[in-house]
Amino acid sequence: MRLKTKIDSIFPEEKSIPKDIMAGIPAPVDRYLIDGELRGWKGHTQTVFSPVCLKTSSGLEPKCIGSYPLLTQKEALKSLDAAAGAYLNGRGTWPTMSVADRIKCIQAFAHQMVEQKDRVVRLLMLEIGKSLEDSIKEFDRTVDYIKDTIAALKDLDRVSSRFVIEQGIIGQIRRAPLGVVLCMGPFNYPLNETFATLIPALIMGNTVILKPPKHGALLYGPLLVPFRNAFPKGVLNVVFGEGREIIPPLMASGSINVLALIGTSKTSDFLRKKHPKPHRLRCVLGMEAKNAAIILPDADLDLTVRECILGCLSFNGQRCTALKILFVHTKVIKPFLERFSQAVSRLKFGMPWEGNVFITPLPETGKPDYLAELVEDARQFGARIINENGGRINRSFFYPAVLYPVSPKMRVYTEEQFGPVIPILSFDDIEIPIDYTVASNYGQQLSIFGGDPVVIARLIDPLVNQVCRVNINSQCQRGPDTFPFTGRKDSAEGTLSVADALRAFSIRTLVAAKELDLNRKIITTIVRERRSNFLSTDFIL
Ligand code: G3H
Repeated sequence: MRLKTKIDSIFPEEKSIPKDIMAGIPAPVDRYLIDGELRGWKGHTQTVFSPVCLKTSSGLEPKCIGSYPLLTQKEALKSLDAAAGAYLNGRGTWPTMSVADRIKCIQAFAHQMVEQKDRVVRLLMLEIGKSLEDSIKEFDRTVDYIKDTIAALKDLDRVSSRFVIEQGIIGQIRRAPLGVVLCMGPFNYPLNETFATLIPALIMGNTVILKPPKHGALLYGPLLVPFRNAFPKGVLNVVFGEGREIIPPLMASGSINVLALIGTSKTSDFLRKKHPKPHRLRCVLGMEAKNAAIILPDADLDLTVRECILGCLSFNGQRCTALKILFVHTKVIKPFLERFSQAVSRLKFGMPWEGNVFITPLPETGKPDYLAELVEDARQFGARIINENGGRINRSFFYPAVLYPVSPKMRVYTEEQFGPVIPILSFDDIEIPIDYTVASNYGQQLSIFGGDPVVIARLIDPLVNQVCRVNINSQCQRGPDTFPFTGRKDSAEGTLSVADALRAFSIRTLVAAKELDLNRKIITTIVRERRSNFLSTDFIL
C-alpha cells in the first residue's frame, strides 16, 4: 500500500481491535481520595477520548474511554485540609513515623499496584497513545523506581543511624520532611514522572496532594483503592480536575510547602507567584528542553542515525529529553539527510497495541495543527520537508516531518515542538551549535556524535557548563534513574535521581547536645528504651 493511503487509512473499525485491549473500557473514574475516604462524585466530569479514532459509517470518531471528576475549589481545599491535618505541623503519625514503618506502607502499596498492572497499562496506552510495549516499560520502570527508592532510603538511614561527636558536641543528623507536597506529573509519562516525585515525597514523611495530568488521568482510577489501603488517612489525597481551577487556590493558601511539577516554566512561574510566603515553598520542577545533537564530520553515520531516530521520535518526540534540533556538519549533511529520511520511512506507524509500532496518534487536541503551523512557518523561511509525506495529518495522527535547512528565523529553531517534527541545520563552524546552546533558554542535555576523542573532549568541557548531561554517540535520555536528572535555565529546578529525590523532598535536621554526663544519660536512655524515632540507632536491614 502507498504510504499516503496507509496514513489516510490508519484508524481501525471497532470490531477489528483485539478484545483484550478494550476489556473494561470505557473506565470512568467517579471517585476521588480525600482523608482516607474514596468519595463519590456526582458533579461535572471530563469525558476522555483516546487519540485512537474509530472508522464508523459517519466517518472517523474519537473513541470515548472514560471520564473523570471535575472537582471544584471546595474539594481541592478539603484535600489541603486533609494533607495539612495528617502532617499536623510535623506532629502527625506519618511525619513522626519510623523510616522502617513508612517503608512498609510503600511496599504494601507497590504490591497492590502490581496487581493492577494490566488495567493501568491499557489505560495509559489508550489515553496517551503510547505503544503497548512502552506503556509496559513505563509501568515496570515505575515499580523498579519504587524498589530503588526504598533501597536508597535504607542506605541513607543506615548512614544516619550513628552519632557524630565533634568538638565536644554529640549530634545525630537525619533528613526530615518538609510538609505538604503538591505533586503534578506530565501527560507523556503520566505514571512514571508523577511517581518520581510522589514516592520520594511520601517516603520522606511528607503528606501529598496529587493531581493527575489532564491526559493520563484514567490510569489513576485502578490505583485509588491501593492508595487508600496503603497509607494512613490524609497522607495521600488524589484530586481530579482542571488545573487552572483547583490548583491556584491551593498555592494561594500558603500551606503548600513543596511544589513538585513536571510541566512548563510558564505554569511553574504562575503557580509559584501565587504562594504568599515564597521562602516557605520549595520547588522541584522539570520543565521544557530543546536538546540539540551535534553531528561531527567523522561520526559513524549508521550509529548516529539510529540514535537520532530514537532521540527524535521515541513516543513521537513527546519526551522532555527528546533530541529537538540536529546540527550536522556540512561534510556529512547529504548522506545524513538521505539515511535519516530513509530510516524515518521504515518506522512502523499505526495503533499503539500493534507489535513494534513506533509512531502513533497524538493525545493533545490541536497538536497536529500546531505542528503543521511550525512546518508551514519553516517552509516560508526556506526549509523543505525532505521525507516522503512528512507532516501529513489524519485527525490525531501526524506523520513525522524532517525539515531542512532550518535557520534562526524559524519558530522551530527555538520553540520546543514536543512532537514528530525534526529540524536539521548544517554547520561548518563548531561555534554555531555551541552558540545555539549558550543562547538557548533551556539547558537540559545534548548529544555529540563523532569519533575523535580530542575533538569530543574539547566540546565536553565548555558544554557541561551549559547543560546537565552531555551524551556521547548516544541519544539524550533520563535513565538510568539512579543518574542525576536535572537541567539549567528554564529546564529544571532540583535534581531527581533516585537518591537525589530523597534529598529534594527533605531537609537536614539534627539533635545536638554538649558532651555532659547529664546529656549522655538522656541520650542513652532515649536510644536504649527506643523512645524516639528520630534519635535512634536502629539499623534497617
Ligand atoms: O519527558 C521527559 C522524561 O523524563 C524523559 O525520560 O529519557 O527516559 O524518556 P526518558
